[in-house]
Amino acid sequence: MPRVTVTVDGITYQEEVEPRLLLVHLLRERLGKTGTPVGCDTSNCGACTVMLDGKSVKSCSVLAVQADGSDVVTIEGLGANGSMHPMQRAFHEEHALQCGYCTPGMVMAAIDLLRDTPEPSEEAIRQGLEGNLCRCTGYCNIVRAVRRGAQEMGQAVKSS
Ligand code: FES
Ligand code: FES
Repeated sequence: MPRVTVTVDGITYQEEVEPRLLLVHLLRERLGKTGTPVGCDTSNCGACTVMLDGKSVKSCSVLAVQADGSDVVTIEGLGANGSMHPMQRAFHEEHALQCGYCTPGMVMAAIDLLRDTPEPSEEAIRQGLEGNLCRCTGYCNIVRAVRRGAQEMGQAVKSS
């Protein structure tokens, strides 16, 4: 079986994998990263979104072997020193979740959106997150959370 070397949330792993194994299953079942859920398995919902070499991807649409040599960040690797990432905090403070199933993917996609659009309009947020589905919230608080997270991340950059 092929052997992949992948860094996940700062730790490097070497795993023998079946060629058909999906990245999301490597993360969840082999590495214990159950903070990344599977919502559909058909690349529609975005719940499984992680960062792969700095860009958000749906990890159910990537084979584990394709991630060989890559750096992956999951929702579990976002915070630092026991603190939430500003985008996680914004989702919490704006009540942008109910069941929470979509939330890890929403947070990762939101952070990726801000790489290119640090001060997104409501329209840009809705467009940027259109690959991530939420069946609970109606999206209004998610949009508010992304704006708040963007402001806090912007302030953190200015003060650093
Ligand atoms: S589980 Fe990957 S997009 Fe739904
Ligand atoms: S909070 Fe339940 S799916 Fe989004």
